[in-house]
Amino acid sequence: MTADLPSVLAGARLLPVLTVPSTATAGPLADALAAGGARSAEVTFRTPDAEQVLKTMAAHGGLTVGAGTVLTPEQAERAVAAGARFVVSPGFDDEVVAKCRELGVPVVPGIATATELMRALRAGLDTVKLFPAEPLGGLRTLRALAAPFPGMRFVPTGGIDAYRMAAYLADPAVLAVGGSWMATADHLRRGDYEEIRRLTADAVERSRT
Ligand code: 3PG
Repeated sequence: MTADLPSVLAGARLLPVLTVPSTATAGPLADALAAGGARSAEVTFRTPDAEQVLKTMAAHGGLTVGAGTVLTPEQAERAVAAGARFVVSPGFDDEVVAKCRELGVPVVPGIATATELMRALRAGLDTVKLFPAEPLGGLRTLRALAAPFPGMRFVPTGGIDAYRMAAYLADPAVLAVGGSWMATADHLRRGDYEEIRRLTADAVERSRT
């Protein structure tokens, strides 16, 4: 039986999207996110160390960690073996969705059109990622796309920052908001974990209002 994303996220509405260059960064990053009050994170499969990073962050214990940028069923398998509690994709792929079902983990495919939403609905999904949210037209587009699909929940991601986040979260169709602004490649290159903690705490605070 596949758990659903709302129960895996357990009320967490902020999803830091992380592209982590090396495993050495994973521990201090998990500490900084957890210290800032984040309860979940998405580790993207865009770097060679992603699997090991995911494993380290999942073992940290303070965060519910999922895998992002999962493009193939094989990656989904590796992600779940490394401890991913959910799987996120930038687009909709039937085989990735089927594999996640088989593995019993929630899958959140990216959608950008009503046609893709219909595919997600037919696949039995009730949560999708609106990607890339801001370039697609932001909250206005989200509301227009959500209207014909009343049971569908959205995780908008792409171009969202601390200032835009709250308006998305106020919409009942939005389950959570994703974004990389709390822990960017630049923060990680500089090892600026204090700034990551600060930006995370700020986002967590804003997500509550
Ligand atoms: C993602 O993969 O979800 C995006 O890269 C995150 O988007 P952002 O970097 O614009 O927040």
